[in-house]
Amino acid sequence: MKIEFNNVDYSYSKKGTSAIKDINLSLDKNEITFILGATGSGKSTLVQHMNGLLYSKSGVVKVETGDNVYIVNKKLRNIKDVRRSVGMVFQSPENQLFENTVLDDVMYGPLNFGVDEVGAKTSAVESLESMNVDESYHQKSPFKLSGGEKRKVAIAGVLACKPQVLIFDEPTSNLDNKSTREFFDLIQELKNQGHMIIIISHNENLAYEYADRILIMAEGNIIFDGNHIDAFKDKIILDKANIEIPFVAKVKERFELTQDVRNIKELAALLGRESL
Ligand SMILES: Nc1ncnc2c1ncn2[C@@H]1O[C@H](COP(=O)(O)OP(=O)(O)O)[C@@H](O)[C@H]1O
Ligand SMILES: [Mg+2]
Repeated sequence: MKIEFNNVDYSYSKKGTSAIKDINLSLDKNEITFILGATGSGKSTLVQHMNGLLYSKSGVVKVETGDNVYIVNKKLRNIKDVRRSVGMVFQSPENQLFENTVLDDVMYGPLNFGVDEVGAKTSAVESLESMNVDESYHQKSPFKLSGGEKRKVAIAGVLACKPQVLIFDEPTSNLDNKSTREFFDLIQELKNQGHMIIIISHNENLAYEYADRILIMAEGNIIFDGNHIDAFKDKIILDKANIEIPFVAKVKERFELTQDVRNIKELAALLGRESL
């Protein structure tokens, strides 16, 4: 599995400035990649090129799955294959839900990709369970759910299609702490199963804890590409992207700790305390 960008530009209108500029990027590992950056920096535009929701007029986006290589542009006929391999959970889950019941909604994806009724139902039930959506919700209307519940159903809908690559556009923005933890437990499990995961987020603490790789965007450019240790070192980059130093990184700096602890629990253990 590989996603590659070569000199990709995209602008929403003919006269306007580019939303993403001269992007060169290669993603080819079963890693968790976080994309950080201020609102309007081009994060959503970038990921929408990965499954053909947007097409670049200049530059090349290439998606490789197994033996197949797809150049994602307007002329690509089997865009459905790309969309099946690269699943996306949108920033606003409302835009992703449209069936009468939760179960029908989650079954829609697999059915659309040619899975039979029984198979689609099995996948749907499994993925709802993995998102901790109770069975009593299966026959409810997705439109009557809370923001967090809609988010979980939208995620289940993508998981049910079993894509190799999973892209989440600000997935935890309306989840509570417990649901956020559960979401990241699931993400790590999916990574261990061999999936490539891309997460757009505003939360530097989550990036510090879970990212294998971090991309930072500002004004349509990728201004940083590296690991969680290096990502938060350069003040100029952080200011440009309007992001802060993660709490754990701040404490590590203050106490000159060099161990690679990633969350408060590990930090507390290192400092010999039950909690901080
Ligand atoms: N549908 C759209 N039509 C016109 N401009 C858009 C549209 N979506 C995004 N933009 C513009 O493109 C730029 C990048 O936006 P976006 O990719 O949504 O950034 P982010 O996801 O980082 O907030 C912004 O200037 C935004 O206003
Ligand atoms: Mg966005």
